[in-house]
Amino acid sequence: MTTFDFSTGPERAGSDSIKWRRYADRDVIPMWVADMDFAAPPAVLEALHTRIDHGVFGYADPWPSVAEAVIDGIARDHAWQIKPEWLVWLPGVVTGFNVAVRAVGQPGDGVFTATPVYPPFLHAPGNFEQRLVTTPLLQHGTRWEWDWSRTEAAMADGVRLFMLCNPHNPVGRVFDRDELGRIAALAERHDLVICSDEIHCGLVLDPAKPHIPIASLDESVAKRTITLMAPSKTWNIPALYCAFAIIPDAGLRARYKRAMAGIVPHVNVLGLVATEVAYRDCGPWREALLDTLRANAARVVDVINSLPGLSTTPVEATYLAWIDCRELLATRGIANVAAFFEAAGVGLSDGKDFGLPGFVRLNFGCPPARLEEGLVRIRRAVIS
Ligand SMILES: Cc1ncc(COP(=O)(O)O)c(C=O)c1O
Repeated sequence: MTTFDFSTGPERAGSDSIKWRRYADRDVIPMWVADMDFAAPPAVLEALHTRIDHGVFGYADPWPSVAEAVIDGIARDHAWQIKPEWLVWLPGVVTGFNVAVRAVGQPGDGVFTATPVYPPFLHAPGNFEQRLVTTPLLQHGTRWEWDWSRTEAAMADGVRLFMLCNPHNPVGRVFDRDELGRIAALAERHDLVICSDEIHCGLVLDPAKPHIPIASLDESVAKRTITLMAPSKTWNIPALYCAFAIIPDAGLRARYKRAMAGIVPHVNVLGLVATEVAYRDCGPWREALLDTLRANAARVVDVINSLPGLSTTPVEATYLAWIDCRELLATRGIANVAAFFEAAGVGLSDGKDFGLPGFVRLNFGCPPARLEEGLVRIRRAVIS
């Protein structure tokens, strides 16, 4: 059996990495942008080398075996059987949900999402003169949950599109069948289209909580759902720009494609090469990655919850931990949480960008030793 080494990674300092360049001249460990400090799977690298050796990079269309790999992978990993014609290839998931907003609503319509959430969700409605409508997720004990009555009430505000993030960035939840069923029922009652960003679906850490694509619940949910997926997070290839929407309903798919016309480019050919190999051959790499991420997640939860003024919740999926710093900020009189941790040598994402000030998001998709150094710096800053 092949083994994979996640104890180290290539040097990214001085590279083109957005995550690392921000702190090029400072001793700050970058733990913000959501990519990992690991090389892509060896099989992906090999396929890319072979394709590059061909030497010609003319316009390309996705070939049948790419779609086959994706379809088989989704059936195998998420028990959802999709059809080839449901796939719409995209250069990214952010593009994908912006197109969904454009396709579904008119200027002035409401677009719903629950906060905190991945910041581009919050900007997408405004990109098309539509209105952002939000309700907060609520923390009950160690679990982030939906506020069902407020969510239901929010639909009255002219909402046409329900933007779901599942598994959830940043709270790390994998929504269960009951929660997804309630969202689907709400969409039926208010005749909404659901845009479900499932980019993190390959990164479920808790085997007891499998990812369920909301569109797989039943046919009527599928008909009103645009599901967005990509190999980019799971196999760490986001800058290869290859993603896809899964849209079972022909009418909705046609609207979606019309909204793409003239502004959404074809997918990068290297992204397609990597996608095929990732979905088809890189399950063992993913399993090994998940072992590392599980251990990293446990370490983050242990350390953070042992520190005064900080707390976090179990990470069911993703390599992102969502940390409540409000008590620390209040007792120490800290105004800028991200600047506080940067001064301590750790670069985190500021919760205010996700719609919830007082929190930070920590990316633990890195070798365990680097994570440990980051946690040491956080501890030093908090207990000093
Ligand atoms: C929920 C979510 N959607 C989309 C993206 C980015 O997708 P893409 O790079 O394919 O546009 C991210 C990246 O962090 C994310 O967390």
